[in-house]
Amino acid sequence: MRAVVAGGAGFVGSHLCERLLAEGAEVICLDNLATGDAGNVEHLRDHPGFRFYRRDVTEHVHVGGPVDAVLHLASPASPVDYRRLPVQTLKAGSVGTMNLLGLAREKGARFVLASTSEVYGDPLVHPQREDYRGNVSPVGPRSMYDEAKRYAEALTTAYRHEFGVGTGIVRIFNTYGPRMRPHDGRAIPTFVAQALRGQPLTVAGDGTQTRSVCYVDDLVDGLVRMTRSDVPGPVNLGNPHELTVLELARLVIELCASSTPVTFVPRPPDDPSVRRPDISRARAELGWEPTVSPVDGLSATIRWFAARFGLPCPPKLAAAAGVPAGASAAPTAALPARPAPVTASHIPVPRAGDEGATTMPIPIGQAAGAED
Ligand SMILES: NC(=O)c1ccc[n+]([C@@H]2O[C@H](COP(=O)([O-])OP(=O)(O)OC[C@H]3O[C@@H](n4cnc5c(N)ncnc54)[C@H](O)[C@@H]3O)[C@@H](O)[C@H]2O)c1
Repeated sequence: MRAVVAGGAGFVGSHLCERLLAEGAEVICLDNLATGDAGNVEHLRDHPGFRFYRRDVTEHVHVGGPVDAVLHLASPASPVDYRRLPVQTLKAGSVGTMNLLGLAREKGARFVLASTSEVYGDPLVHPQREDYRGNVSPVGPRSMYDEAKRYAEALTTAYRHEFGVGTGIVRIFNTYGPRMRPHDGRAIPTFVAQALRGQPLTVAGDGTQTRSVCYVDDLVDGLVRMTRSDVPGPVNLGNPHELTVLELARLVIELCASSTPVTFVPRPPDDPSVRRPDISRARAELGWEPTVSPVDGLSATIRWFAARFGLPCPPKLAAAAGVPAGASAAPTAALPARPAPVTASHIPVPRAGDEGATTMPIPIGQAAGAED
């Protein structure tokens, strides 16, 4: 399979590139690094099946040669990012989606849209099934993201019906794991960074609002199944195991063996009270089910963040991963089947024969979005 992964240098996209390469696919990663980081794909630079092109998908997208699958993950995704980049977010969902659908149509490729549980807004139905139409404000504080994804879903559906493109829509619920950015405004990286640094964990409101969090490897498995299927969707992908935000904070404190306290801060007005996917459709149509427990997923995430910050890995988690006590874990130590990181300072320019658009070497480790 030859796959184009738009947004492949982001958190989810970089794991997806790894997984596709591990399955023997050739991967063309397109990313403008608006919120991603070339360092996320640095370790793939020498893989013979991998190419990185710094491209903005809201501009014309051209890829030479055959393409079997186009996976569209290119969009600011965290509240901090899409509020900072509202017009870019709307363009990624509209113009970006149209360009990538055009590419899929031209190549006769499968197209997979990474949509979001945000299309349900602040839901009045719980858990959320795919036939729930949502409770979204077109002018609210999350509208640039929610409406961009709703439009992207409508456009994807139109290309399927009018042009016969083999499209699939997945609605992703909260996902976490290594390579999230500590300050992206999402609860897990915030809690992990605070606990590792011995700072109080800031829980919004009274912490009784719930989250259902899915480990990134599980999500990637669902994305790959969707890519290899002809299921049109929309299909929810997320972990139905629901935790209160306070339970999540306490679990992070416990896993970090920290004695840091929890403090309560005002809750943002648009913070959803409940979010939990009904994944019956994913089970039935994709045979997909998340398998990573919160303890295992959070442990791997904490180990990665400890290494990222150069802090000692919490002893229990270090022992579980075979890291010497007190040592800073290698960023990938707990993540099986990940290629070793490389130290060279550039992602290579593409090879002859790839008549993709202009490419440029990207300095490794240069974070384009807010970072620690
Ligand atoms: N992580 C989650 O919990 C979650 C939940 C729901 C949906 N999603 C969806 O999954 C996708 C990936 O999310 P993520 O958490 O990895 O976010 P991310 O910000 O880490 O990754 C998005 C990537 O897209 C790139 N990008 C943005 N606009 C672009 C453009 N115009 N052209 C090319 N590249 C562009 C960014 O540079 C970044 O590398 C997004 O589409 C997001 O909406 C994620």
